Amino acid sequence: MNGAAHAGRVVALVPAAGRGVRLGENLPKAFVELGGAPMLVRAVDGLLESGAVDRVVVVVPAELVEHTASLVPEEVDVVAGGSERTDSVRAGLAAAGDARYVLVHDAARALTPPQSVAAVVAALRDGAGAVVPVVPVTDTVKAVDAAGCVTHTPDRSGLRAVQTPQGFDAALLRTAYDAAEGIATDDAGLVERLGEKVTCIDGHPLAFKITTPLDLVLARALVAPGE
Ligand code: CTP
Ligand code: MG
Repeated sequence: MNGAAHAGRVVALVPAAGRGVRLGENLPKAFVELGGAPMLVRAVDGLLESGAVDRVVVVVPAELVEHTASLVPEEVDVVAGGSERTDSVRAGLAAAGDARYVLVHDAARALTPPQSVAAVVAALRDGAGAVVPVVPVTDTVKAVDAAGCVTHTPDRSGLRAVQTPQGFDAALLRTAYDAAEGIATDDAGLVERLGEKVTCIDGHPLAFKITTPLDLVLARALVAPGE
């Protein structure tokens, strides 16, 4: 390991405690299989294969903690999540121990390439306090009011869609969660609320979030059965 500023353990948290309402399968989304392996197992494998992560903590519905432990490698920790994603990340952070850096990686981004994980960690070790992988937005995005009328059209060239893993200096993320009120749809959003800088790096199309039935068709087409 090189200088002290670049050293330190990387702990990856995998929020996998959602119900997958939009996917509409009859089991929690992270347990839906892609080519014979549950999404959360594929997400964990990608993290471990990156070679950049020292420890993984998976966060699942309380009644599935034991079952999950039988699915993932022995060194992976499994804890119970909460009703909102923010609650689940909080539970993961409580189990993150002496991490120097924390990644938060949605189980639903099950096909994220290991190289994308390594790139986030590299940016942290280069000194960034918060790192998000992003991709350009392809649709024009409208801001609308409660009545469904357009209020304005943000310039698309200044917009990015955000993926995971998002990476953080562990102390910064803990401070952001301590200060958090209400619900945030991503972790970097809480760091932004502190006025801290969030650095963008290039994301990857395979890191798309499996959210809808159409996403599941795509994901299953991308993995060979039994792979
Ligand atoms: N998640 C979590 N705990 C929650 C809610 C979500 O750990 N209470 C996780 C999901 O398991 C998923 C990630 O956060 O890996 C991103 O959330 P999302 O894609 O919205 O998944 P779900 O909440 O399961 O799906 P939906 O919103 O359609 O119910
Ligand atoms: Mg959700």
